[in-house]
Amino acid sequence: MAKPLLIPPQNAPIRLTIPDEGAMESLGASLAQATTGGLTVALCGTLGAGKTTLTRGFLRALGHTGTVKSPTFTVIEPYDLARGALYHFDLYRLNDPTELELLGLRDYFSPGAICLVEWPERGDGVLPALDLRVEIHYCDQGRSVDIQATTPQGSNLVETLSALLHKSNDTTQPSTPHN
Ligand SMILES: Nc1ncnc2c1ncn2[C@@H]1O[C@H](COP(=O)(O)OP(=O)(O)OP(=O)(O)O)[C@@H](O)[C@H]1O
Ligand SMILES: [Mg+2]
Repeated sequence: MAKPLLIPPQNAPIRLTIPDEGAMESLGASLAQATTGGLTVALCGTLGAGKTTLTRGFLRALGHTGTVKSPTFTVIEPYDLARGALYHFDLYRLNDPTELELLGLRDYFSPGAICLVEWPERGDGVLPALDLRVEIHYCDQGRSVDIQATTPQGSNLVETLSALLHKSNDTTQPSTPHN
């Protein structure tokens, strides 16, 4: 008889208060630190929310020393890092999700690659299921960030990230999980 599939429980989302640009970069760095293999992340939030800022922190933590350009016009910005490929997407200017297929989407979402996707809702129906949803909201002078796992791999990462954030005594302040 076939064994029942074990589905790991989804973690509760993490909510963080991120007061400034530096803290947003630190959060990106913590995410990078918690990432062990391939990872796909939906970076959600309105214009100027801080999606590229978080990506910059992520890239710097993985050793990228050059500039981090917003791929608003190029759609995809590739990075060849010591630990493998990272692709930064900004889908804001897509007219239709099917344009992603013409850009060879499948080649980027390969096992082991890290894909960080700004404006993922513009790729609905064409983008594969992503591991993590990072949702950024304006909050006073800073931002409020919700991080939710959307695959078992994402769950593992959220667990590692939670532990990292609780250990570090930086400007991020984890608060109680919410619905
Ligand atoms: N936590 C924060 N608190 C206050 N300002 C922030 C924070 N994070 C980022 N910023 C500022 O917000 C501005 C816009 O950031 P960023 O370009 O990262 O936004 P974005 O979400 O990528 O926007 P877009 O949708 O246009 O690509 C920058 O000037 C950055 O310094
Ligand atoms: Mg951006």
